[in-house]
Amino acid sequence: MPDSTQPRPLIERVAVLIPTYNERDNLPLVVERVRAAVPSADVVVLDDNSPDGTGDIADELAASDDHVQVLHRQGKEGLGAAYLAGFTWALERGYDAVVEMDADGSHRPEHLPSMLEVAADADLVIGSRYVRGGKIVNWPLDRKAISMAGNLYIKVILGMSVNDATAGYRVYRAETLRTIGLDKVESAGYVFQTDLTVRTVRAGLTVVEVPITFVEREIGDSKMDGDVVRESMSRITRWGLAHRRGQLQRLLDREPTWHRL
Ligand code: GDD
Ligand code: MN
Repeated sequence: MPDSTQPRPLIERVAVLIPTYNERDNLPLVVERVRAAVPSADVVVLDDNSPDGTGDIADELAASDDHVQVLHRQGKEGLGAAYLAGFTWALERGYDAVVEMDADGSHRPEHLPSMLEVAADADLVIGSRYVRGGKIVNWPLDRKAISMAGNLYIKVILGMSVNDATAGYRVYRAETLRTIGLDKVESAGYVFQTDLTVRTVRAGLTVVEVPITFVEREIGDSKMDGDVVRESMSRITRWGLAHRRGQLQRLLDREPTWHRL
């Protein structure tokens, strides 16, 4: 547990993790923008053996730039699994902070310097679409509705006040990942984001949401599908019911105790 009486350690070494599945045309553009926005950071591509050859493009980028690395994974195992491998890789190498960022340009690298500044006084910084000042550009109405309804469901069933718990643009301090522990995380798909948000809040750590403008990709396709939505719904419902059952048990508890609202 980080000591809340001590200032947080300085963030010097930053790893920007970029998961990819069929992003060959997007990857060079986003890597160039990250390198320009935060030149001292290392970029780590997490490629799930993309059939379109994204892994080869990543290797070419790595060959010409010491600040670019690639983790080649066996096959498509989901966003969560790719990030878990990336987190472990970064923790083993002593990075102070780990950034999550999509490869398709939706998460503008130009937001990153200010997110890292905020991380000086936070354990997790979320680039949020749903706080004042946050925006979404070019999302169809149905996708926006699913995302907003999902976040409302998370708030209500889990009683958690984070506005964009499904967001995929984040800065985690290394210490945060060590504190919440990654070995019990089972979420494979996009629900991984919500899973880690819940774990961070429950660990009593400080989560700060900063407004971002999320711009829908112009090249390639989203990988969100029915499996991603079903996994999210079933895991969130299970966590929510367990949370509410725990509250009910405490209400019915007859042990003599102090009463607090
Ligand atoms: N390695 C790997 N393996 N990468 C993946 C996989 C996978 O199985 N699935 C998706 N990705 C990568 C994509 O290549 C992209 O870089 C990033 O993950 C996000 O995927 P998109 O398919 O572009 O996601 P989206 O735009 O529909 O969803 C966005 O919103 C979600 C809900 O708010 C993202 O920001 C998600 O992170 C977010 O949870
Ligand atoms: Mn996208």
